[in-house]
Amino acid sequence: MNTQRKTVLVTGSGQGIGRGVALGLAERGWHVLVADIDEQRAKTVAAEAGGEAVVVDIASAQSCREAAEQLQRQGVVLDGLVNNAALFSTLTMKPFWEIDEQEWNRVLGVNLTGTWQLTKALLPALRGAESASIVNVAASAVWIGRPHYAHYVASKAGLIGLTYVMSRELAGSGIRANAVTPGSVQTEIPRTTITADQVRKQVEAQNVQRPATPDDLVGAIAFLLGPDSGFVSGQTVNVDGGLTVR
Ligand SMILES: NC(=O)c1ccc[n+]([C@@H]2O[C@H](COP(=O)([O-])OP(=O)(O)OC[C@H]3O[C@@H](n4cnc5c(N)ncnc54)[C@H](O)[C@@H]3O)[C@@H](O)[C@H]2O)c1
Repeated sequence: MNTQRKTVLVTGSGQGIGRGVALGLAERGWHVLVADIDEQRAKTVAAEAGGEAVVVDIASAQSCREAAEQLQRQGVVLDGLVNNAALFSTLTMKPFWEIDEQEWNRVLGVNLTGTWQLTKALLPALRGAESASIVNVAASAVWIGRPHYAHYVASKAGLIGLTYVMSRELAGSGIRANAVTPGSVQTEIPRTTITADQVRKQVEAQNVQRPATPDDLVGAIAFLLGPDSGFVSGQTVNVDGGLTVR
């Protein structure tokens, strides 16, 4: 995996936003490690991005350690880490009192605990870079307290808090940590959590009045990964077309 290009690992990049971000970053010159729990999809996107596939279940501490050890053996240094993997498109919506304990723990276990434990495992690879950057993909659903998604919204609010602490604890190490909060993004994956009518109403409420695609995240994430944001750390960049203003 020796390369002159900067290397970024994007989790959950076998499909959806992660795939779009992986391809967009590859177009911008990054060497992309396409990490996903789904080996086949990771390999397909890695081939499209001219990068490598990394198979990892971020909800498993052991899987995270094994993936990190494999990268270490290959001498990989990470200039960037985009923590994008989450349980999202497979979720069904319900009020918080109908979410059972198992489902709650599963969502928190991937979206929050998983992001924490993979980042922990990859710290040596990030420390090996001259200046590394972590971008955590949260959600603007936090800012609007989107109903019927309590486990998901809580996991993403927790991720924003984790980002702030990471930025503090990595201060002075040359590693920055920031979050992005996308609004609703249409991907190639169908989902039941938003209807066509809700998309239309949301678009009308945005300052930028069109639906978002994964490409809309690439610029903000590339900025946070690269040297142009060298003085930006511990921040949340909201990418929701101005659905919410902050
Ligand atoms: N699509 C949206 O409208 C939207 C809006 C705001 C935020 N987001 C966030 O953006 C990110 C991507 O969203 P998406 O729409 O592409 O979601 P998605 O459900 O289509 O894709 C999630 C990806 O994560 C992978 N994944 C799931 N569990 C994993 C695990 N344990 N280990 C490793 N990989 C795992 C899946 O295989 C899949 O490739 C998520 O963090 C999501 O919360 C999405």
